[in-house]
Amino acid sequence: MKVLVIGGGGREHALCWKLNRSASVTEVLCAPGNPGIKREARCVAVGAEDITGLMALARAEKPKLVVVGPEVPLVKGLANLLRAEGFAVFGPDQAAAELEGSKSFSKTLMHEAGVPTAKFETHTDPDQAEALIKAWGAPIVVKASGLAAGKGVIVATTEQEAIDAARDMLSGNSFGDAGSQVVIEEFLEGEEASCLFIVSGDTIIPLASSQDHKALLDGDLGPNTGGMGAYSPAPCVTPEIEQEVLDTVARPTIAALKARGANFIGTLYAGIMLTKSGIKTLEFNVRFGDPECQPLMSRLTSDLGEVLLAAAESRLAGTKLEWDTRKALCVVVSSAGYPADFEKGQIIEGLDDVEAAGTTVFHAGTSADGNHIVNSGGRVLGITALGDTVAAAQQTVYTALKKMKWNGGFYRKDIGYRAIQREQDNS
Ligand code: AMP
Ligand code: GLY
Repeated sequence: MKVLVIGGGGREHALCWKLNRSASVTEVLCAPGNPGIKREARCVAVGAEDITGLMALARAEKPKLVVVGPEVPLVKGLANLLRAEGFAVFGPDQAAAELEGSKSFSKTLMHEAGVPTAKFETHTDPDQAEALIKAWGAPIVVKASGLAAGKGVIVATTEQEAIDAARDMLSGNSFGDAGSQVVIEEFLEGEEASCLFIVSGDTIIPLASSQDHKALLDGDLGPNTGGMGAYSPAPCVTPEIEQEVLDTVARPTIAALKARGANFIGTLYAGIMLTKSGIKTLEFNVRFGDPECQPLMSRLTSDLGEVLLAAAESRLAGTKLEWDTRKALCVVVSSAGYPADFEKGQIIEGLDDVEAAGTTVFHAGTSADGNHIVNSGGRVLGITALGDTVAAAQQTVYTALKKMKWNGGFYRKDIGYRAIQREQDNS
């Protein structure tokens, strides 16, 4: 079958890479794709947020399956429009995508459905926000309710920092409309994990566990980013915890959406905090995580095309996912300066050597400039390797990265440290 993938980041590169290795798939198309995706798919220059252009592309190409990678087109209702014209789509309709599009919606839904999550209030008035912050005290978490590419969350260690963040968001300075409502949340302490599910109506199939590193700097310090690295499986997610997340988070959430008339087809991503008082849901996304998708696709041995088509055609029940038993780890190389401003157009060399050293180089924010690969986004590459242990996979990636020639690139040196610590403790 012919599959159209929407998006052009590291996640979509991993999806195209896996689809291209699926027996059920004869052709992969990607809009807009990137120079790395070009090796796996025919890239068409239609932007992932250009809904009209994407509809015209689907009509012209008639793919059997459309896979929507990023959240923005889902929140804009692309899946509804495609389904209305008879396309099989992997990705939720607009009403279900609100789970990610509005933190205020998702927290309210969790509260009503009894899904474990941090205590919260939603505010639009800066004085009321300030009063709440003073009443609850620091540490406290302030979140822009709308989409902010993973950067709209401030974990404030002082009341003043939280007040400044809330006022800044509500004045429209930092996140525009996305910050016109803020969610203020109790601070949770613990280890985080990403629990993803392939969902089609009442059928909910867990993917292997994973963990990402959202903070910019080693030791999980510094500002939040879209994700600086990830690995799978996450050893903190025991089979018991996986079952608990399925029963107390995923199932009630999908049921609550259904009760509101929203049928979910796509990936449900639950960000989980394992606290001393049990699991808590930090957030939902309605698509694969980026960079979690890169290690997950590296480990998946099932035919991805078949699984996603079965979900899109509401016949997912009975599907089993098979995984490589090895561990996979992805280190994100970003442009130095990200998540703030950075210089674009810098030439990156040595990527063939990085790959020859046993990794897969997934492209995210890259562009072609003549024969050169240059940086064009904040998160630029995801260098991914498999290994018998997380430590072995990590070593392969960091050794390979020495072959990369790009002075303006930045990456964390400790991706996977918690899992590696556990491996050492257990040996
Ligand atoms: P979110 O986009 O809501 O998952 O938030 C991004 C990141 O901020 C999470 O992955 C956590 O590291 C951190 N975070 C979010 N909410 C909380 C919370 N209530 N307590 C502590 N950290 C949080
Ligand atoms: N890695 C976090 C996310 O995709 O939102």
